[in-house]
Amino acid sequence: MTAWKSAEITPSAARLTESLRDIGYDFPAAVADIVDNSVTAGASHVDVTVEFAGEESCVVISDDGDGMTGNGLLEALRYGSRRAYGRSDLGRYGLGLKTASLSQCRSVTVVTCRRSAASNVNVRTLDLDLIAEWDEWLVVEPVMVPVIERSAERLAAEPGTVVIWRKLDRVLPEKRPDGGWARRRLDSLATKTAEHLGIVFHRYLENSNHSGLVITVNGHKVQPWNPFASSQPTTKELPLQRFELSVGDVSGTVTLRRFVLPARDEFSSAEEFERYSGPLNWNRQQGIYIYRADRLVQWGGWNGIRGIDEHTKLARAALEFDTDLDSVFNINVAKMRVTLPPQIRQMLDRPINELCAYADDRYRKASRHTSKEQSPEAPAQPARSQQELPIPSRSDAGLALRAAAMQAGEYAAFRRILAVLAERAPEVATALGLDS
Ligand SMILES: Nc1ncnc2c1ncn2[C@@H]1O[C@H](COP(=O)(O)OP(=O)(O)O)[C@@H](O)[C@H]1O
Ligand SMILES: [Mg+2]
Repeated sequence: MTAWKSAEITPSAARLTESLRDIGYDFPAAVADIVDNSVTAGASHVDVTVEFAGEESCVVISDDGDGMTGNGLLEALRYGSRRAYGRSDLGRYGLGLKTASLSQCRSVTVVTCRRSAASNVNVRTLDLDLIAEWDEWLVVEPVMVPVIERSAERLAAEPGTVVIWRKLDRVLPEKRPDGGWARRRLDSLATKTAEHLGIVFHRYLENSNHSGLVITVNGHKVQPWNPFASSQPTTKELPLQRFELSVGDVSGTVTLRRFVLPARDEFSSAEEFERYSGPLNWNRQQGIYIYRADRLVQWGGWNGIRGIDEHTKLARAALEFDTDLDSVFNINVAKMRVTLPPQIRQMLDRPINELCAYADDRYRKASRHTSKEQSPEAPAQPARSQQELPIPSRSDAGLALRAAAMQAGEYAAFRRILAVLAERAPEVATALGLDS
């Protein structure tokens, strides 16, 4: 029999907690990860406050969810919390509360109270300076400074959880943390955070399947931003696609919803057009929006299926999977990035190219319409618009050709062929809806 010698080698708390600060969060994403926990705890209200007070500045994220017991709170503050995860549970690695918080600050305090009548308010702090000093995984009872005091009072009246970030070393400038620049930076982070939360939780905020989540940032209600302009009557949705995915012993369903958004003049107003342009603007907002359990995790671009193109900027698609496929999609700790499994990429090729062909068509027709309107003195074109030749099967054939050319990676060649067709047989190009 082989004799095994074993030795326990506990990681250095001081070193590991420092290095885990850099696993890829920015400020809005870190706040979103804390809000994930509130959503999982069944909260219907989450209030985010970014409070400027020089070196004493803090971020407070409070919810009216289930709250935690004293032991639950200790487990929650463990790197790698132990608990079972239900389906559609936004948590995954047992790290977010710690890693997201301490990516922005050196001290996170959690104040919490369960819903049951006999519950106490529990308060604990994880502090990087203390951990560095002792090189131990310490959790302490903090000094009751006013912000903690206020949170405890609130929770005694109405259960839930409050997460407080203090010592904002990654947010405030080292020199002059009390200056005007620091104040403006906090203001701008609050604005960006509201925008980010409005995007990633838009389905929760819109209350489509969820019980009406309300999030506020510095007292202002966060507005949902639906990438597909679903409220616009002229948004066109293509037939929904479902894929059964099976990788190793993991299997589940992936859903693809495809939208062609209205062109500029088809929007109900110029403001709405601007609003749906999104933070990255129309071109870079095209692409696949990937939802995990209805929470948006990644967007912008076509994930290697095709490139970003001005002509397909009206195309946006929602790709949805549930947490049972987490391992297949390789969701990262910050829940900001997934990797499309090759199997899914292949399945998406045809429907995405078809979507882009429709979007390309809509964009070209709209710009032709605009340029005609803008130059009334231009020589009259022969009557060959799609409306005058309403033969749907033919125009579908044109779109199918366009999609096939894109899918074959021969779109440039296809456009050259079209140019020749337009010259030699314009009526055929027109009949097929290819007369751009
Ligand atoms: N706002 C909250 N309300 C109730 N429980 C919470 C809250 N935040 C965190 N927790 C508990 O702390 C645990 C650890 O959270 P976290 O580190 O984000 O990991 P994960 O969400 O992946 O489980 C959660 O599993 C949950 O049990
Ligand atoms: Mg979490």
